[in-house]
Amino acid sequence: MDSQSIRTGKVAAVIALGAGASLFFRGGRDPLDRGGDESPGSWRETGFLSRALLCVITVVCLLVISWLYKLFFRPLELLKAPHDVGYIAEDGRSKARAANEVRRRRKVGELPPVYPNGWFRVLDSHMLERGEVRNVSVVGEQVAVFRGEDGKAYVVDAYCPHLGANLAVGGRVVGSCIECPFHGWQFEGNNGKCVKIPYAEKVPEFAKVRSWPCCEVNGQILVWFHCDGVEPQWTIPELQEITRREWVYRGRTEHFINAHIQEIPENAADIAHLGHLHTPGMVSGVDLRFTNSKTWEFLRHHWKAQWEPESEPNKHCSRMLVNHAITVFGRHWSLLDMDVVARQVGPGVVFLQFEHSSLGRGVILHCVTPVEPLLQCVSHIIFYQSSIPPIVPKFILLAECIQFERDVMIWNNKKYISKPLLVKEDSAIQKHRRWFSQFYSENSPRLNYQRDTLDF
Ligand code: FES
Ligand SMILES: [Fe+2]
Repeated sequence: MDSQSIRTGKVAAVIALGAGASLFFRGGRDPLDRGGDESPGSWRETGFLSRALLCVITVVCLLVISWLYKLFFRPLELLKAPHDVGYIAEDGRSKARAANEVRRRRKVGELPPVYPNGWFRVLDSHMLERGEVRNVSVVGEQVAVFRGEDGKAYVVDAYCPHLGANLAVGGRVVGSCIECPFHGWQFEGNNGKCVKIPYAEKVPEFAKVRSWPCCEVNGQILVWFHCDGVEPQWTIPELQEITRREWVYRGRTEHFINAHIQEIPENAADIAHLGHLHTPGMVSGVDLRFTNSKTWEFLRHHWKAQWEPESEPNKHCSRMLVNHAITVFGRHWSLLDMDVVARQVGPGVVFLQFEHSSLGRGVILHCVTPVEPLLQCVSHIIFYQSSIPPIVPKFILLAECIQFERDVMIWNNKKYISKPLLVKEDSAIQKHRRWFSQFYSENSPRLNYQRDTLDF
């Protein structure tokens, strides 16, 4: 449960307890004490049980109101732990154990480099208050992401070059600098230069921490990674509808996927899997052992899609056009027909734009951030027209999440095949691999076969 829901629940519980207690104790007093004129017996004569019942009803009503409020008005937040989705826990094993076993046993195949060059999301803007610092893992590195008192977001290496303390664990924001919690050295967010050593006469020229190019756009903070330290070669497009707040935040999901990063965007060019994996209705769930169950066969999704890379100057972008339709007992339900344009910008960000005559317009920002060589953090953040009731984008995000989790079960357990056995109809997959290879360069990091990661 997210912290906002917990807060709402706590508020509802406090109100309910307060209301219940007041009803309960009010009944014990003599109305004459308050100078009141209630008819004798209205409260005093009500028995203990009926007052207790009234309290229970009050509590239940308030909890139902808070639940309905959350359902209809609050953003949807589904944050899954790394072992939550896509593993089969049999023979009484826990999901965490099943996930660790899969990670240990799996053959990884002949992998492309593990960290492509590009922009990767590290946080959503609302997760970082002015003066706050957070530790994030990205492309196998630990970084400190902080928001200066000037309101700007900065990203620097988390480990202090002095004696290695983690700047994000107890570090303090001072102006546009981050101050190390160990000896108080201060580093400028913009360029990483050390500007103050509290006990030294002089700050040496070479004293600096690596600072990462970063940007804040569409309600997200992103960092630029390039294995050779090359400066950003393109930018993340700004969606004016989000900046102008015509489209507002309606929720997010987060998953950790045990796969090479390339497997995830490749899904867009794998048109054939739509007609198989994603055809059973969303009510069929996400566990692939049961999605073809006869019980839910009445609901089917139908897809038409094509994938194309863009040309210069946007060759770092590609587009997938999708027409989606639903049939119920074989009858087409046109209300849920949806056209989606999925525009990928670089290796880590996709804009899934929706347009519907009555359900309105919006976007899901699909972001893949490599955490470790074979561990990807994938988030979906939905922004939708503020005039459309939040339940609509929440439903869209949930539907997307269900379909996505079916892919997760495949990715978590598959092997990367460098020379796949493809038929003519799969040709977009090879095209996608050629397109994606532009994000690797000669020095792009490859998988280190020595096992150096922690279990979930
Ligand atoms: S370790 Fe950071 S100031 Fe000493
Ligand atoms: Fe898929």
